Amino acid sequence: MSKNLVFVLFFSFILVACSDSSQSIHFIKTTDGSTLNIDRELFDTVAAKHFLATGENLYIGDAEAIKYGKKRYNLWSCTQCHGPTAKGQVGPGLIGPDFKYPKDATNKGMFETIWAGTNGGMGAKGFGLMVPDDGITPDELLQIIAFIRSNGKITGNE
Ligand code: HEC
Repeated sequence: MSKNLVFVLFFSFILVACSDSSQSIHFIKTTDGSTLNIDRELFDTVAAKHFLATGENLYIGDAEAIKYGKKRYNLWSCTQCHGPTAKGQVGPGLIGPDFKYPKDATNKGMFETIWAGTNGGMGAKGFGLMVPDDGITPDELLQIIAFIRSNGKITGNE
């Protein structure tokens, strides 16, 4: 291999490594618009890491993830307030296209709303926020969101 090629390969590698670790979306609380800090260690799957870097939810349209998300949606009692197909019950419908918090039309926005809650009756559900060692993990939340989106027309990745 020529010296030049080794050089190019080496620097491409450094570039990829750097962009991977520094690229990350900025989460914002739905309650007051301030910065929402979430422990990066909790983003421990391919889909969760991809979401942290880009805001895109890879589970949208994924049948397995939607099935799992539906189970978790029931387990965390979302059903009681938002109905079995997320079309609303005591709480509002979640399939859009109109939302009380317009950013919930995006997966990043909906993630922030569910993770840290709202001021109008939705408690924070993110890991460590209800009790220190329990709560919805990022990967789980992405699958719950995939289930919610599967009941409507918008994907949130638009
Ligand atoms: C105790 C009832 C209750 C439970 C349980 C609950 N929610 Fe909610 N949720 C609400 C209410 C009430 C609102 C409206 C909040 C507001 O107006 O600020 C809301 C709002 C939301 C919104 C924002 C909707 C919009 O139009 O912007 C999302 C998304 C949401 N909930 C998802 C969930 C998910 C997912 C779960 C389960 C992990 C869940 N909620 C569990 C009562 C509940």
